[in-house]
Amino acid sequence: MRYGHFDDVRREYVITRPDTPLPWINYLGSEDYFGIISNTAGGYSFYRDARLRRLTRYRYNNAPLDLGGRYVYLRDDASGDYWSPSWQPTQRDLDDYTCRHGLGYSIISSRYQGIRAETLYFVPAGETLEVWRVRVTNERAVPATLSLFSSVEFCLWDAQDDATNFQRNYSVGEVEVEDGVIYHKTEYRERRNHFAFFACSEPLAGFDTQRDAFLGPYRSWDRPIGVERGFASNSIAHGWQPSGSHHVRLELRPGETREIVFLLGYAENPADAKFDPPGSQTIDKRRVRPTIARYLQPDVVADAFEALQSRWTDLLGICRAETGNEHVDRMVNIWNPYQCMVTFNMSRSASLFESGIGRGMGFRDTSQDLLGFVHLVPARARERLLDVASTQLPTGGAYHQYQPLTKRGNNDVGSGFNDDPAWLVVSVAAYLKETGDSSILDEALPFDNQPGTERPLYEHLQRSIQYTLDRLGPHGLPLIGRADWNDCLNLNCFSETPGESFQTTENRSGGVAESVFIAALFVLAAGELAAIAGLRGDAAEAARSLAAASEMRRAVDQHGWDGAWFRRAYDFFGRPVGSAENDEGQIFIEPQGMCVLAGIGIDDGRARTALDSVRERLATPHGIVLLQPAFTRYHLHLGEISTYPGGYKENAGVFCHTNPWVMIGETRVRNGDAALDYYLRINPSAREDLSETHRGEPYVYAQMIAGADAATPGEAKNTWLTGTAAWNFVAISQWILGIRPEHDGLRIDPCVPVAWGDFTATRRFRGATYRIAVRKRPGTSGCVTRLRVDGRTIEGNLVPLPSSTEAVIEVEAFVDAPVEDVVEATP
Ligand code: GLC
Ligand code: GLC
Repeated sequence: MRYGHFDDVRREYVITRPDTPLPWINYLGSEDYFGIISNTAGGYSFYRDARLRRLTRYRYNNAPLDLGGRYVYLRDDASGDYWSPSWQPTQRDLDDYTCRHGLGYSIISSRYQGIRAETLYFVPAGETLEVWRVRVTNERAVPATLSLFSSVEFCLWDAQDDATNFQRNYSVGEVEVEDGVIYHKTEYRERRNHFAFFACSEPLAGFDTQRDAFLGPYRSWDRPIGVERGFASNSIAHGWQPSGSHHVRLELRPGETREIVFLLGYAENPADAKFDPPGSQTIDKRRVRPTIARYLQPDVVADAFEALQSRWTDLLGICRAETGNEHVDRMVNIWNPYQCMVTFNMSRSASLFESGIGRGMGFRDTSQDLLGFVHLVPARARERLLDVASTQLPTGGAYHQYQPLTKRGNNDVGSGFNDDPAWLVVSVAAYLKETGDSSILDEALPFDNQPGTERPLYEHLQRSIQYTLDRLGPHGLPLIGRADWNDCLNLNCFSETPGESFQTTENRSGGVAESVFIAALFVLAAGELAAIAGLRGDAAEAARSLAAASEMRRAVDQHGWDGAWFRRAYDFFGRPVGSAENDEGQIFIEPQGMCVLAGIGIDDGRARTALDSVRERLATPHGIVLLQPAFTRYHLHLGEISTYPGGYKENAGVFCHTNPWVMIGETRVRNGDAALDYYLRINPSAREDLSETHRGEPYVYAQMIAGADAATPGEAKNTWLTGTAAWNFVAISQWILGIRPEHDGLRIDPCVPVAWGDFTATRRFRGATYRIAVRKRPGTSGCVTRLRVDGRTIEGNLVPLPSSTEAVIEVEAFVDAPVEDVVEATP
């Protein structure tokens, strides 16, 4: 069953009933000012940091799950009846309802008792404010007398403190109201130089800034006393819960539409010019007034909204495909890049599953997010890479996380996740392939942000590789440390204390536990470094990296193979993990995917065998689960992975991030049918009909879909902020459709289902636009061995770099060689 439908032309998902299985959210903002917004207008906003600069209050864990947001109320002043056009929080039976989630905006529209209301929410580019444009139409045959109320509840900036420190916070809240604009200025009298504003385009009948004056004692947002009785109380908050509400009266003729604009925003003043007049405690509003005045004008709002749309048209034009498969096209052309942008912006901070308080930017997460983002805005990717690399430790190791506001490594979480450094090499390689901008390698960057330690990024990469080589275990495989990609495989933790962190606790010092996954990742990363070294003419480094990669392959061959699949690890006692010898957790997905992706086992048939084992033992209709059999009890020597009930999260859930590694693996052994089959199992659009089971948004990937062992197989959790977004984009665009940026050109190497025929794609790359037509006869398989580029025939499948920029280059790629001839030859 569905709760809406895709509108591909408008690039929207249209939700047609408000009671979706879970709140289905969207993101507002793309630079400094952000918000999350649900299909019933729930959510909150923040400036840059969801913990330290949160504008509006939000209670996670609430009942209902999503309460508190950007609510407007309408009241029929003739009857006293009132409702929320977004359904929440009053939950009246609306005559109709739609929520259109688009790229950076949402439009919630409904009709009740002959009154239509449509609210557009978005953040104009370059501004630190959000617009709510409300259009109210009287569809009755008689005039209507209405009241419109807006509402927000302010957060006292630090979301953690706001939710805990009541003894202080109930006394610090302050506001000002001037010319109908509500200013929230808690702590402005002392160290803050920022404040929030909430403005309205209409003359006000009244306002409220003290939450409980608006709601009434012992009432909630579903029946505010101010709305119920039809007038505000002009309250001024002194402590307690500063909030904002405007009351506007509307007289509408039959058929008449009125447009009312609300602005919620963030502003800063210079530290020495906070007050007007100086010496007073009144906010100096001279800088912010012009911005407010500007965006209260409907035509300015309309232009800004159009600019947002064209920005996305441009971004989405960078990589497009027309394959005839609607789920592929819709995700490649619209939703997957959008999710990649959101994960790049948010990392793992704010969603309905990430509180905005807890986590900084992950070293590995950020590096992987870049893989799906780098083509969109390479300049921002470059900046991010420099930030990440500057937190790297002198050993080549990495803080597991850094804080976005300070850009410093996070000491609480620390380091010792031994896969972290290798991801930096992989993401820098992706940046270089996309842009050709080798100047980044010469950027002098510090270690641990310590001035005076600056070395070229190139050396950071070398140290990343060396970090693994300095930490090899008894089988010549990399030591796992606290955990590798799988945060929950904690082989040195041995925790018996409730509440102790599995990731930061090492009760046994580990010089034995090894990771086959890191070995495979190392082979990939060392290969990338060798190629980069080659480009720089550093033959010695190229040779050293290649030799290290071969040595690591040998270790995997000797100690990483279990007979029918790759082993996962060796534990603290040197016993295999992910082996037929184990009772539970015999086979794990990660080493199968990453080994084959890195090219291990392709020449000796092990890759094929490992992938067959995946199909037999791990593949389910809802995606490929992480391991089998699921752990049925806590294993002290394995850690957090065995804490989850079977079928959830790392304990045999479909951890979607890993699935594209297997898809890519299948393309590396030239099985396009299997690759696309796996792709479609977790593709959210392809799961739309299962919405009742899936429960998450059908337009974005989830981190996890419950596995076969779960009580609720197929149920998605942790939608939005997941490395799944980037990796699926890489899998479908670069490996299945096969349009792959490389250092010396654009590779056209599709590996699609046998039944597919021709398809076309467009890719902007290194300043040129490539219009690509892949010629393939349905019912055949094979590889591209011949191209026609602007009419000229080229042997092979690499389109050379463009000679001039801005050119449009026509490429025809012919799929005609039988698969057997080319398997060996693929890079
Ligand atoms: C989460 C983490 C990521 C980790 C994965 C597997 O997605 O953000 O860093 O690799 O879980 O444990
Ligand atoms: C990853 C895992 C999660 C675990 C967390 C610990 O995000 O997905 O299960 O709790 O790491 O940091």
